[in-house]
Amino acid sequence: MPTTQHNETRSQRAIRLEDRFGAHNYHPLPVVLERGEGVFLWDVEGKRYYDFLSAYSAVNQGHCHPHIIEALTNQAKKLTLTSRAFFNDVLGEFEEYITGYFGYDKVLPMNTGAEAVETALKLARKWGYEKKGIPRDQARIIVCAGNFHGRTITIVSASTDPDSRKNFGPYTPGIDVIPYDNIPALQRALEHPHVAAFMVEPIQGEAGVMVPHHGYLKEAYEACKARNVLFMADEVQTGIARTGKLLACDHEGVRPDVLILGKALSGGVLPLSVVLADDEIMLCIKPGEHGSTFGGNPLAGRVGIAALEVVKNEKLAENSEQLGEVFRNSMQELVEEFEFVKLVRGKGLLNAVVIEPRKDGRTAWDLCLLLAENGLLAKPTHGDIIRFAPPLTIRREELDACCAIIHKSVKAFAQA
Ligand SMILES: Cc1ncc(COP(=O)(O)O)c(C=O)c1O
Repeated sequence: MPTTQHNETRSQRAIRLEDRFGAHNYHPLPVVLERGEGVFLWDVEGKRYYDFLSAYSAVNQGHCHPHIIEALTNQAKKLTLTSRAFFNDVLGEFEEYITGYFGYDKVLPMNTGAEAVETALKLARKWGYEKKGIPRDQARIIVCAGNFHGRTITIVSASTDPDSRKNFGPYTPGIDVIPYDNIPALQRALEHPHVAAFMVEPIQGEAGVMVPHHGYLKEAYEACKARNVLFMADEVQTGIARTGKLLACDHEGVRPDVLILGKALSGGVLPLSVVLADDEIMLCIKPGEHGSTFGGNPLAGRVGIAALEVVKNEKLAENSEQLGEVFRNSMQELVEEFEFVKLVRGKGLLNAVVIEPRKDGRTAWDLCLLLAENGLLAKPTHGDIIRFAPPLTIRREELDACCAIIHKSVKAFAQA
């Protein structure tokens, strides 16, 4: 098949090539992007959009943030990868910075969120055997229904989403699934003496921004402590200021035993994830027992420091908290005006609006097409939920302009 065809736009060509040569494991909106700056993205035809997905909250600092790109390019000219066969002059500095930033003894750097989750699961099992005294190969991990922790075999073994699981078995054993936001269920599961850890998202992002009741995290943490079980927070999506605090667990003053971060740790510049824990837990892993060729590379180290500096220097958590409130108030007006706009929920700038399908068969997908037409990119999930998560650098006047686009699009959707 030829790779160029006459009379097609650049967008059509890009979409055709992906369809022809790429695995069909995603279903993107038909928008082909080629440039990003701050809260904006541009497609190959030059149309400008507000980004309201932020690459699933990886671009909290805005696209191509100059401070992060400067760190990237300076380091890229010097040294990118040594592997961990040798020391490099950045890793220790990054480790000192990030452990101080989040208040843990030690960090273990990886690349993707899924790898960090896998790392945390391995760490929990090791701790379970070596510190808690769980009999060999008997360790159990408790997770919540509706979770999203990534795509590896073990992680999909913990999933309750049929699309994530179907025909990917056999599954990893030793995982107990309980309902989310349900303390009695957690307490019952914790009665098993071989439980090593409870792994939870403080807000379930991929499930559609499911916010548990206030107090859930604290009660869950205390229930874990009462049973000598590790409380592991997957803050890959909720962390790094997304929900209006540095960590979503901060809303309840909970300090997880094991903290899992990814995505915005690099401002969306390259894959960087980490697991943070204190010595008692982290030192259960010894040389040769876990690792990754790219994990801890100097390029990621420099980018990581710069990305976290931006979060602090530009007060992104505060901005997220304040503008999140403004956004939800504006969306609440739509809930009151249109009965198909069922509800808005979220924290900080991680929010979702539930759109009931119309009688003529149009769904949240069609509303997202209208939003794109009007210059705002958001993606539906689970058919009827639209997640709204702009870069946290967004300013009040920009957010107001975005709310106006959403109102205009919902009105057009109501009429069509
Ligand atoms: C809470 C959570 N954990 C883990 C992951 C997986 O991260 P990655 O796609 O970088 O593997 C995601 C991705 O959306 C996530 O939201």
